[in-house]
Amino acid sequence: MLGQANIHSFVDHHKLSLKLKPILVGELHLAKKLNKPAYIFRGGLFIPIIHEGSVPTRDIINTLIRNSFHEVFVFDEDLSEIKKNLESALIKITRSLSVGDPVDNGTKDLKLLSLNLGGLYRNPHNDDLLMLQFQSSQNLSKFLMENRKLQPHFYESLQKENFHFTLAQPMLSSLMLLSFLQSIHLFHDKEVENLFLASYLKDIGISMIPDSKYDQKTLSDRDKEMFASHADYSFDLLEGRVPLSKNYLTIVKNHHFLNSRIKDLALKRRTPKEADTIVGLESTLVAVFDIIVAMTSIRPFRKERSLYQTLEVVKMIMADDYPQEFKALVVFLKQFYRN
Ligand SMILES: [Fe+2]
Repeated sequence: MLGQANIHSFVDHHKLSLKLKPILVGELHLAKKLNKPAYIFRGGLFIPIIHEGSVPTRDIINTLIRNSFHEVFVFDEDLSEIKKNLESALIKITRSLSVGDPVDNGTKDLKLLSLNLGGLYRNPHNDDLLMLQFQSSQNLSKFLMENRKLQPHFYESLQKENFHFTLAQPMLSSLMLLSFLQSIHLFHDKEVENLFLASYLKDIGISMIPDSKYDQKTLSDRDKEMFASHADYSFDLLEGRVPLSKNYLTIVKNHHFLNSRIKDLALKRRTPKEADTIVGLESTLVAVFDIIVAMTSIRPFRKERSLYQTLEVVKMIMADDYPQEFKALVVFLKQFYRN
């Protein structure tokens, strides 16, 4: 890694900022060799972090992640090469998921899909990128259903990548949801697949939120409103562009409907009767797994909660409407975390 050779000339710095594009730190794995230096942005300055002509090593990438750098800045030519490499690696693994070692294939696919999702956040109107995500995650859902015993391992392997939560959360919550749906034998495989897809794509509306807002400790009321709208944005971005029926798109739109119940619980307020209507089991489960994964994961602005604390909350928002499924959920989670 380079030292602290900052660019001191204001003009040079300004010129540089016009040429640099952000990529996710994890995407550096896809750079075979950088043609130009890569930079981090700190204290208002671009600081060169990797030499031109060098290969970003796993050590450098892990050091950046450990130091909370989620983005690095590269020149256009490197950006397009990294994007091309990422897309072709994702297409290749998607086509050959069932050939070779399922542990390696699944682990690699989860990682590439989640990184590629970052590209979709930056270009949510790109149809090719959306279809690549859709078809790859559809293939993945079939593969996951065929490899039930490996599901907890895949979950853990993606968690260990330490990706920013906006990238990791959709896949982690959908993977756990799929695993639970399979375990309760209430749904056909096609329904499980569609619920997995709806769950995985439910957050693409966060592409409308500026990156700088994700890690802020406090948010203004306007920011909170913007965050609350991401489910509507996701619906708008997906409608008519992916082969998911209205039923599943509605689940996307409603995927935070339980959050108002959690807020009411925190304020020791009773949820008004009309807001207490039972939404379907599918919507409830998509929302619940999103909550479970979020609560048990660390965020830049808070610590993670224990599984016990999380289940206490889930019990209060779900057990009255779905007592049997809640009991099945407790048994499932104990098993899932033990494996
Ligand atoms: Fe969400």
